[in-house]
Amino acid sequence: MTQGADVEIAECVSDADLEDWRTVRLSVAPGERCMSVPELRAAASPRRLMVLARRDGVVVGSGLADDSDTEGAGFVVPRVMAAHRRTGVGSALLDVLATHCVGLGHPEVVSGVDDEGSLAFATRFGFAEVDREVEQTVTVGEEPEPPAPAGVEVVTLAERPELWDTCYDGFGTEVLADFAVHTPLVISAEQWSTTWRGDPMFLALDAGEVIGCAGLRLDPDHPDRAENTLTAVRRDHRGRGIAVHLKRLALHWAASHGVTTVSTWTQVGNTPMTTLNERLGYVTTQVSITVSRTLPMSTNA
Ligand SMILES: CC(C)(COP(=O)(O)OP(=O)(O)OC[C@H]1O[C@@H](n2cnc3c(N)ncnc32)[C@H](O)[C@@H]1OP(=O)(O)O)[C@@H](O)C(=O)NCCC(=O)NCCS
Repeated sequence: MTQGADVEIAECVSDADLEDWRTVRLSVAPGERCMSVPELRAAASPRRLMVLARRDGVVVGSGLADDSDTEGAGFVVPRVMAAHRRTGVGSALLDVLATHCVGLGHPEVVSGVDDEGSLAFATRFGFAEVDREVEQTVTVGEEPEPPAPAGVEVVTLAERPELWDTCYDGFGTEVLADFAVHTPLVISAEQWSTTWRGDPMFLALDAGEVIGCAGLRLDPDHPDRAENTLTAVRRDHRGRGIAVHLKRLALHWAASHGVTTVSTWTQVGNTPMTTLNERLGYVTTQVSITVSRTLPMSTNA
């Protein structure tokens, strides 16, 4: 695909490429859940680009470019193995990824950085902070099964698999519009149905309609770890204890299935969610800075 700084960048094609991509991701962000190969295949689209950077045939980095979840922007994430940093690999990756986003028609690109060096890299290429997210983590305790708030029926998605796709219109679109992000989220029905569902997933119902959700996504590389999926309650049912109840059900499930640690990412501006998490024993474990810049860009400057 491209050559620069002795680095060859090629698109991921085979499952072996995707496993190499995962290896880089797991090495660069060991504390975070990484999608399995089948999940990566399910999330694939003609607009998504996944690449590997190799030097002398050895994988030294990886990259991802796609439409961002926020309106009117592309998303890029170059990742470089620690031993190969400051040798131009990140710049070569960013060049390919940003060019892909230009091809997607985006006037802007966003990324996320978790450490000082990566922030320096992003700043060097003209990115500036637009938002922050916090990772909160809870150590799972005994977690007794919580009593449901009055008048709330809860089912699991495994019991009612049809409910997830059908609740996109109405419930999904309403709760996605309430995200405390710097730019509105744009999540298609297809993305909702593939990458936004959890297993297990707990759904609160009112008159047969979904009014709340919370769940877990197990970590394929660490059976004792899981990530919270979207926790959300329809506007007209907020303040009834439904979100806390659904999250407690998820923690109860975790406690009885060998999951000892559950993590979740939330925008810093989403005080209701971060406060609810603190009430359930979550503590802040990481901060990620969302950075953005206009396109096109040059990494030669
Ligand atoms: C950010 C990251 C991709 C940089 O990869 P890299 O291969 O080390 O980057 P490069 O060698 O191409 O660096 C290019 C320039 O960026 C700046 N830079 C990169 N890392 C830096 C650091 N740790 N401290 C200060 N400046 C840095 C420098 O100006 C550097 O040029 P120089 O080495 O000639 O001084 C890598 O640190 C990484 O994988 N981080 C974790 C993932 C991540 O946050 N990616 C998103 C970035 S937008």
